[in-house]
Amino acid sequence: MTIRIAGIGTNLPEKVVTNDDLAQSIDTNDDWIRERAGIRERRVGGITSEMAVAACREAMAQAGAGPDDIGLLVLCTTSPDQTFPATSAVVQAGLGLSCGAFDVNAVCAGFLYGYVTAYGLMCVPGGPEKLLLCGSDAMASLTDWTDRGTAILFGDGAGAVVLERHVEGELLGWDLGADGSLGSILYCDHGGFIKMEGREVFRKAVRAVVGSVDKALVNAGIQASDVDVFLPHQANIRIIEAVASRVGIPMEKTHNVIAHTGNTSSASIPLAMAQAQADGVLEPGAIVCMTGFGGGMAWGTAVVRW
Ligand code: ACO
Repeated sequence: MTIRIAGIGTNLPEKVVTNDDLAQSIDTNDDWIRERAGIRERRVGGITSEMAVAACREAMAQAGAGPDDIGLLVLCTTSPDQTFPATSAVVQAGLGLSCGAFDVNAVCAGFLYGYVTAYGLMCVPGGPEKLLLCGSDAMASLTDWTDRGTAILFGDGAGAVVLERHVEGELLGWDLGADGSLGSILYCDHGGFIKMEGREVFRKAVRAVVGSVDKALVNAGIQASDVDVFLPHQANIRIIEAVASRVGIPMEKTHNVIAHTGNTSSASIPLAMAQAQADGVLEPGAIVCMTGFGGGMAWGTAVVRW
């Protein structure tokens, strides 16, 4: 008996901000943003708990799971509604769950940290049969909309999965890493806005993610050429291209949403996963590699057999 992803759900706020909209108030333009980041538009105005509830409902519906079936809720977020209670508690109540719930904050690597943690908890004696794992971030609320170095990149969104014990699906290999000495290149103070050294983050992210994917593939005992579906954190299409080429996975195997969402932090990998599902590539047995990086710096990779 192993553990599979039984349902996927997503939520994006309604309000769309295009690159042309941004260019009305900051010194930038659509061509530059599309060429340098691969982003055309992003959604804003989301509230972390509300987006999470909506994404979780969709994932539960796809998995055929009701509130009483969920044994644990893990919410990955770096933009909690309040300092406390944990936003997972708000989501737990919103969904009518009676199980335990907690937040994980590993910024844009959150979904990977959450996934490996959730998987481990399901494997311990007495672990839940079904678990809700959600990434939800309202990055627009942490963005200084007068700073062209960051305002072009971020957006709001949520993605959720139901994990369940099953005969199909398994975690083949994983890697989680962090280098806290790099905190100053990407951070957000309490009550402040995201501060970022873009070029430095770019360089460090590519190196960290390539190393992480390599380690996870070795742990899984497979080669890059065995990967069928590659779901990288949606931060910048040029980072995705650089990572894919260095790791040796063709871009055709990536499934991206960044053009329409921007960087949604913890939500970006489940949003890309939903895209892969819509593209019809998440067949039983497919080898799926998810990888992400972010503030910390923290990074992580999970290689799963669907
Ligand atoms: N619009 C127009 N021109 C711009 C803009 C803009 N928004 N920003 C910078 N420029 C100009 C610069 O002034 C510079 O001009 P110059 O050559 O005349 O000096 C030129 O464009 C190049 O600037 P760079 O900063 O070198 O641009 P770069 O190619 O590095 O792209 C970017 C910037 C998109 C921010 C990139 O560095 C990046 O994506 N970095 C990674 C960011 C990231 O992934 N962060 C999220 C991490 S996940 C998390 O945890 C939150």
